[in-house]
Formats: sequence, C-alpha cells, structure tokens
Amino acid sequence: MAEKSFPDGFLWGAATAACQVEGAAREDGKGESIWDRFSRVPGAIVGGDTPEVACDHYHRWRDDVENMRDLGLKAYRFSAAWTRLFPTGRGRLNRRGLDFYQGLVDALLAAGISPVLTLYHWDLPQALQDHGGWTNRDTASWFAEYAACLFNSLGDRVHTWITINEPWVAGFLGHGEGVHAPGIRDFAAAVQASHVLLVAHAKSVEAYRQVSPDKGRIGIALDMHPVYPLSDGESDGEAARIEDGHHNRWFLQPVLSGSYPSDMLELYAARHVAPRIEQDDAGLLAGNPPDFLGVNYYFPTRALASRANPVLGCQARVPRDCEKTAMGWEVYPRGLSDLLTRLKRDWGDPVLMITENGAAYDDERMEGPQVADLDRIAYLRAHLREALAAIASGVRLEGYFLWSLMDNFEWACGYAKRFGITHVDYRTQARTWKKSASWYQGVIASNGADLGE
Ligand code: FCB
Repeated sequence: MAEKSFPDGFLWGAATAACQVEGAAREDGKGESIWDRFSRVPGAIVGGDTPEVACDHYHRWRDDVENMRDLGLKAYRFSAAWTRLFPTGRGRLNRRGLDFYQGLVDALLAAGISPVLTLYHWDLPQALQDHGGWTNRDTASWFAEYAACLFNSLGDRVHTWITINEPWVAGFLGHGEGVHAPGIRDFAAAVQASHVLLVAHAKSVEAYRQVSPDKGRIGIALDMHPVYPLSDGESDGEAARIEDGHHNRWFLQPVLSGSYPSDMLELYAARHVAPRIEQDDAGLLAGNPPDFLGVNYYFPTRALASRANPVLGCQARVPRDCEKTAMGWEVYPRGLSDLLTRLKRDWGDPVLMITENGAAYDDERMEGPQVADLDRIAYLRAHLREALAAIASGVRLEGYFLWSLMDNFEWACGYAKRFGITHVDYRTQARTWKKSASWYQGVIASNGADLGE
C-alpha cells in the first residue's frame, strides 16, 4: 500500500537562481556574466529581455524571505552569482557581493528556512569566457577557488550545497545548440565543456571536504529525463539507449562511479568530439562522490532515430497529441517515479532530492485578482504523488524544491514564460500569490498528507 504522507523532516522547498531573480546586474561591484552579455545579442532572448532588473530580488530580498516564511518553506534553494564575489572570476574578493549572500543566509535562518546554496547556475564571469570559459580546464580550478571562498565564509551556516546546476544544459545548450550563453554552436566544444563542468564539480567537492564543516553535505543538480523509445521499432530502441547515454549516463556515471560510460566515449571518439581527459581527471571524479544527488525533472524524452543530429544519430521528439505546458514540454508525471526508482536500482540507491520540478503556464491570460493556476496545481500534485510512490517503494528521497518561488527571467524565453507560484508584476515588482502558492502552503503544513483534490 502506498504511503499516505512524506517522511518526517522532509525538506519542502522552492528554488530560484541568481541570474533569474536578482537584477542589479551592475551594482556594488558585480562583474559581467555570460548571460549579461548574451542577452544583448539581437534575437538571442524573446522580446529582447535581459536579466538586468529581473525580480529586483537584490533589493527586495527581505520581503521575499517574508514571503517564504508565509509559505512555510523549510528550505530555499538559490544560487550565488560568481560575478558578485569575483567580478572577473578570480583575484580579489568583492566584499559587498559576499555581504549580500551573508545577509540573505542570516535572514533565512532567522525565518527558520534552511539555505540550500547552488554555486553555479549558468552565470559564468564573462572575463573567464574570454579565456575559453568551460572549454578551458583552468576554469574548473578557478571555480574551486570561488567555491572554497563561499565554503569558508558561509559553511558554518549553510549546510546543504549544490555544486553545478544542470551541466548538460550549460554544456550542450550553451556550446552545442547555442541557444543559451555563451551561444556557441560546436558539438565538440559542448562535450569538452560538459567534461570541464564535471571536473569543476569534483574539484569543488574536494575543496569542500578540505574545509569540511562536519554537518554539511554537498551534491550536484542534474537535469534528468527518463528516456523512452518513440516507437517499438529497433532503431528507436537504439536511439533511446544513445539519448540516455548522452543526457543521463554521461553525467551520472562520472558523478556516482567516477568514470564515463564506455559506449558514449567510443561514440564521441568515432565522431571526433571526445573530450580531452587529463591524467588527474579520473582520480578526481572517482575520489569525490557527492553526499546526495539533486534531480531536476520536468519532462521525459521520447527518442527517435534520426540523422538530424549527425553525432548522435537520434533526436528527442514531443509526441503530437500529448498534454503540454506553455514551454511545449510533455506532462508525464509517471516519468518522475520511473526516474527515481531507476536511480535507486541502477545507481547504488543514492540519497536523492528533487531540486527542481514545476511548470510554466500562460498565467497572464487569467483574470481576477489572483491567478487561478489550476493546471499548475494539477501538474505539481501529480508529480508529488509520483514522488510519494517512489518513497513508498524505498527510494531515499529527502526533499522537493518547487520551481519556482516566483516568476522570473526564464533564460532564452525572457519574461514570457512564468513558472512561479508567486506572480511578479514586472512593472511594479509587486508579488502576489497565485492559487498554487496557497495550495503549496497547505501541502507543506500537512507534510504532504493533503495534496488536495
Ligand atoms: C531548468 C533550470 C531553471 C529553470 C527551469 C525552468 O532547466 O535549471 O533555471 O529555468 O529549467
């Protein structure tokens, strides 16, 4: 029989990222990030939007923490902007940048909310991009230095850390498809970037163990897609294996077992896109397993054999008639429990946290004083039910972070896509709860026993 509620101490949270909410892109000594730069490329972002102001969280964080307290959040996942601490990525610390995060962390703790700090959520210092960014292995060392500075300054108060958010997206959307910063279109560069990101992850875990506040834990947030063949045909079955290798195993295996999957290494080598793996890398990856794995889940992948991607020979396809969110992403809650149970079965039963899950809908079209985002509630409820089913089957799931606390700068989609449970009026910066916020408040208060109808 399925469990009726979540385990005691389950970490109910919500998530944001620095570049998506902070704004104040040039204040108090902050340096330029690759997203500040990329957003000014004509045509790169829908509506010509930029992260310059975003939700103005840099100035409104006290109110935002109050909002979180009202929601009853147990934890808040946010990221630090590397460029606030080190405007050019390295060198002398910009004290005012650190002060901002110290103030935020202290306010969260005073509100009874555990801070969960992501070190890198895609906003690389532009000055490091000018040195090759994530295709340059030195970036991994600079990242570890920046990380160590945060561990040293906040490690006594922040006990849950996330190294890198979604290295697949940073690597492949940023360097392969060019739809994210830094806007490069070169598959080999993307594979190389994915490797350097993983080395950066391992080096920062290593740095953490050296500073090692006893009670802390550190993990990584991977965007995971359960992969299903689009058809029963043999070629789509093979496409699913490759898609899974490319998107999931390429990250899971080095993070959890310390090596790359040999089938993907062979495939990349055969297509002349293999990364440059240095002598130390294997030891670094193998020697620094995380304490938990963060899972970002939004939608599954339906794999199709196709020449559209000449390297992989396959492609992801959204089935024509399925239910979709405003992003065009398939709604498939079952994918979440498939994913979680597979991680338990095939990857050594790691401690898991859902570090992102949520949906964009066209909220602005709804009328009335409060956005009646019933489709978002339905999405969240269905996914929480699957999370509960996974827990009932023994998965060690310890937390759930809803994306997102509030509407924000949705990368290449600008402000056009809204994921928040709090509505943000970008003209006035007024925050208003959507129905989903009241609903989530009830879920948290009942520890997930009451998911509503
Ligand atoms: C994830 C990102 C997050 C947000 C959601 C919708 O891939 O990590 O910043 O944009 O998608």
